[in-house]
Formats: sequence, structure tokens, C-alpha cells
Amino acid sequence: MAGDESSGRNAILSLLGSIKALVMFESENCLHGVTPSVWDDRVGAQVKHRVELPDAIQKPGSVKAAARQAPVISPSLNLFDAPGSGAGLRAGTPVVEKKSHPGRERPDPEKTAASLEALRLEIGENCRRCPLAGLGRKRVVFGVGNPGADVVFVGEGPGEDEDRQGEPFVGKAGQLLTRMIVKIGRKRNEVYICNIVKCRPPGNREPAVEEKKICGKFLERQIDLIKPRVVVALGKTAAMYLKGMFDVPPAGFSIGKHRGSVEDYRGSMLLLTYHPSYLLRSPSASGMVEDDLKKAFSLAAGDRPA
Ligand code: URA
Repeated sequence: MAGDESSGRNAILSLLGSIKALVMFESENCLHGVTPSVWDDRVGAQVKHRVELPDAIQKPGSVKAAARQAPVISPSLNLFDAPGSGAGLRAGTPVVEKKSHPGRERPDPEKTAASLEALRLEIGENCRRCPLAGLGRKRVVFGVGNPGADVVFVGEGPGEDEDRQGEPFVGKAGQLLTRMIVKIGRKRNEVYICNIVKCRPPGNREPAVEEKKICGKFLERQIDLIKPRVVVALGKTAAMYLKGMFDVPPAGFSIGKHRGSVEDYRGSMLLLTYHPSYLLRSPSASGMVEDDLKKAFSLAAGDRPA
């Protein structure tokens, strides 16, 4: 009888040990009761896949070893392989959530915020690296927004209001941009907004090639720190700059011709759209910009470029 009791107790203890091992494994690997789901291109939906637990989990005595081994989630995702090619899911490779732009590691937003602040300090409040320093600017307008933004907007350079307030896109054109972002269901503070040049060109003239070349290095560093999924060029000057055409005369280039296509910019998807100041003059183009903004956010969410 005593022997039966003791073997019964041992069986229960052993069962409890196994349950504890599984619970610890789950919590250390964030699997808590949920089989991770991934985007499966072949079915066009989020699907659940079998999680293969490491062998060690079978043995209650080796919980720590088990917890150290990452679970292998059989299939993984390659968003841009052609549907039906069979190449979308491959065994043994790391899981890429639907939201991830392939090849784009998202940095820790807190670290990015600190690095952006360091860059802002490096530029300084009295930057004198280019001629704009001596042409009447009041403030260096660095950039504003979410350091973890999926979408970064790039304009040409600060105008009068921005120069006074030290923040990009706060004047009439900027307010229109903000309204359009809100109209499509997003918030200004979820994106990051900046310009090619950080100082106001006199009379709002287009920045000179030399100014763009000098200050554009800082824009590149902003983008490299944020690593957004999508960069939206606002207007012709930003579009040409980001397409590497900053010393080419703008004749012949039009946003109308180039908007809609998606190309790479420093690992982000680059989209071009009209500058909001153009919309102030031509409100009938608003629908196109709205479509472009929707496209930017949907690409950032992991949808395939059309
Ligand atoms: N136009 C721009 O290109 N940038 C601003 O910040 C404001 C207006």
C-alpha cells in the first residue's frame, strides 16, 4: 500500500515536472498558448504552423537546455517570391512576420531616438556647413516624429513657418499633409518627417546642388538610423534627390510620370507623390496623393508592391 502511494506520488511529481517544463519553455519563448502565425503567400493569409520543440523538452530534467534552444518554426516567409513559385516558404529559416520588409531589420526605437538626438547635436543649432547658414535662416530644422516609424516623409527644405518653429511641415502645406495622414486613418506622430536641407533657402527657392549634397548626407543618416519600410518623397525636388538625380535639371521629370512605381532607397521602398504645396494650388490632385499615402502604409504593413 505504502509502495503504491509512493509510486503514485512519484508519477504525479513527474507529471507536474513535465507541465512545469512546458510552461517555462513557453513563457521563455513567448509561445504562451499560441502557435505563432505567419503570412503564407500561397494562401494569402496569416496561417498557423507547427512548432517543433527541441528534443530536450521531452526530458523534464533538462528544462534550461530546452529553453536555450530556440524553437524551429517549420515554414518561413519570403514576401516577394512569385505566388505559386513554391519559393515562398522554406523549412528551417527564421520566421519573418507579414509586417517585415524582407532584409529590413527594424532597430530598437529607443536606440534610434538616442542616435537621432546625437545626430541632431552633431549638426548643431548653428550649423555652418553650407551657404544656407549665411542666407537668413533662423533655425536648423532637423526632423520630427516617431523614431520607430515605418513610413518616413521627405520634403525639400523648411519654409518660413518651419524656420520659425523649428519643425518640418507645420505651415499651410504641412497642415494639409497632416490632415491627409489623418484622413486615411493614420496619425502624424506615427511617421517621421524631415527634409533634404535642414535650413530654409531664402524666398523658399529650391536648394542649390551644393546645399543638397552637403545637407543630404544628414538625411541619409536619418534614414539609415530609422530604417523605415517606406520612404515617401514629397514633390519633385525630394523625388529627384532620392532617385539620385540631384544635380540633373528637373526638365522632363514629373511626379505624374513616376508616382506609383516602387523602388529601393537605402533598403527602404521609395514612393513618390506630389508635394502638399502643389495640392494647395491644385486640390484636384488630392485623390492621387491620398491613394499614394494609402499605398505607402499598406506596403509598410507588408503588402506586395503592385
Ligand atoms: N515644404 C517642404 O518641403 N518642407 C517643409 O518642411 C515645409 C514645406
